[in-house]
Amino acid sequence: MKRTVLGIVIGFALGVAIVLGGLYFYFSTGMAPAATSAAPLPFERKLAHMALRARIEREMPAQVPIYPDEVNLIAGAHVYNEHCAVCHGLPGKEQTAIAKGEFPQPPQLFKGKGVTDDEPGETYWKVANGIRLTGMPGFIQQLSASEMWQVSLLMANADKLPDSVKTILNSPGGGAVAQSGTAQSREVHAASADSPQQGASR
Ligand code: HEC
Repeated sequence: MKRTVLGIVIGFALGVAIVLGGLYFYFSTGMAPAATSAAPLPFERKLAHMALRARIEREMPAQVPIYPDEVNLIAGAHVYNEHCAVCHGLPGKEQTAIAKGEFPQPPQLFKGKGVTDDEPGETYWKVANGIRLTGMPGFIQQLSASEMWQVSLLMANADKLPDSVKTILNSPGGGAVAQSGTAQSREVHAASADSPQQGASR
């Protein structure tokens, strides 16, 4: 009887050792994917999302302390241009080179439904804390709580923004590093085409 128990314990310990050894071998010999262009590990996405979801459900704020009025959405659009557009894109614009080279891919938040079906509190959690081992930065040290709420409400209302807000998202010099150049030249071009007088006087 005692011997069977001992046998089970040794067998179990051996099993654990073999699995751990195998995992160590897999990672230490460079077989695990390391490049952003490599295919994801089996279950990598699923496990990462499970962990994130469980954490957010526990910690996300349930109440939104500000209203999604025009003033807040406009402020959110400025925050977005400066801190988010380079990865998450702008309406009607192509993905930047930076976004294309990332793994995991940053979702283009003005394409399709974006995150309009997520609670603003969930987006707020992601903006504040970031998402570990992805390109998604945590902004809690850099942005104020109001700025993080403003940009979260912008995301939640991305499919029904007033024109004033859309204009800012498409305005030059908004801070979207890789895109401001092209946007600017297009604006100048448009101005001179529509009214040469006005274009020249600027
Ligand atoms: C350097 C690139 C980068 C910047 C800058 C960035 N993000 Fe992200 N973001 C990512 C990546 C990559 C992911 C995807 C993470 C994943 O797959 O879990 C992501 C995920 C998200 C998500 C979750 C999307 C979903 O479908 O659930 C939201 C919301 C988000 N970011 C909002 C923002 C906002 C708002 C800002 C600006 C304040 C911002 N991000 C700045 C790279 C970035």
